[in-house]
Amino acid sequence: MDGTVTPVGAPVLILLGPPGAGKGTQARMLEEKFGMVQLSTGDLLRAAVKAGTEAGRQAKAVMDAGGLVSDDIVIAILRDRLDAPDTLQGVILDGFPRNTPQAEALDLLLAEREQKIDAAISLEVDDAEMVTRISGRYTCAECGEGYHDQFKIPQKPGVCDACGGTDMTRRADDNAETVGSRLQAYHEQTAPLARYYRARGALHCIPAMDGIDDVAARLHAIVTSTRA
Ligand code: AP5
Repeated sequence: MDGTVTPVGAPVLILLGPPGAGKGTQARMLEEKFGMVQLSTGDLLRAAVKAGTEAGRQAKAVMDAGGLVSDDIVIAILRDRLDAPDTLQGVILDGFPRNTPQAEALDLLLAEREQKIDAAISLEVDDAEMVTRISGRYTCAECGEGYHDQFKIPQKPGVCDACGGTDMTRRADDNAETVGSRLQAYHEQTAPLARYYRARGALHCIPAMDGIDDVAARLHAIVTSTRA
């Protein structure tokens, strides 16, 4: 990618896709390219767990088992985050909504803010690829930049390209057992959302088995065309 920032107003994008599809990776690239803000409910929940809040305590066991945290908790966390002023730059929803009640709640939250969804973009990847992507994933504990043992290696081993940090971590739910439950939750509860957004004329499906930059180019073309 060329590193230039393209202002696009205040779009609302949804990234759909199974665990490990590349939602977080692509959301961070979209942030850089278009100056929008990534809202990851997974990150917000992990922050609540780390902070030891009541919501975090309730969420932890469910996340460790690979299930979906209750809608009440996730919607409340997202509502608070949407109220922060930086979201006026436009948002990329990464990991939300994950079922029909959450999609309906999102429609209401956006209507209250006189906003609407520009595009729901589904990253299409085979299940077998998910396990490879998730089992090789690690992140910089200091800035959150994501890496992969095979597919995205820092230029200097063990040192974050983005911030120079050396504390790399792996997520507790990135193990073979939990990945199976997460994929099951995705197929049963999240995949049907494609129908929800297709019916509203907002759905875009893109092949996401190729390399990170190829997928990014497809996504950026959609974002640019929806804002034209
Ligand atoms: P969450 O944090 O949202 O996890 P997830 O959906 O399982 O998605 P991941 O973060 O694992 O994957 P990703 O698609 O972002 O992939 P990434 O870019 O890292 O949710 C965690 C848990 O929180 C859930 O299980 C649930 O319990 C709870 N939760 C969250 N939201 C909720 C909600 N709305 N309702 C209820 N519960 C909720 O990529 C993976 C790896 O692959 C990386 O290492 C990357 O470098 C590499 N990679 C990416 N793209 C490519 C590519 N094109 N080619 C090769 N490698 C690639």
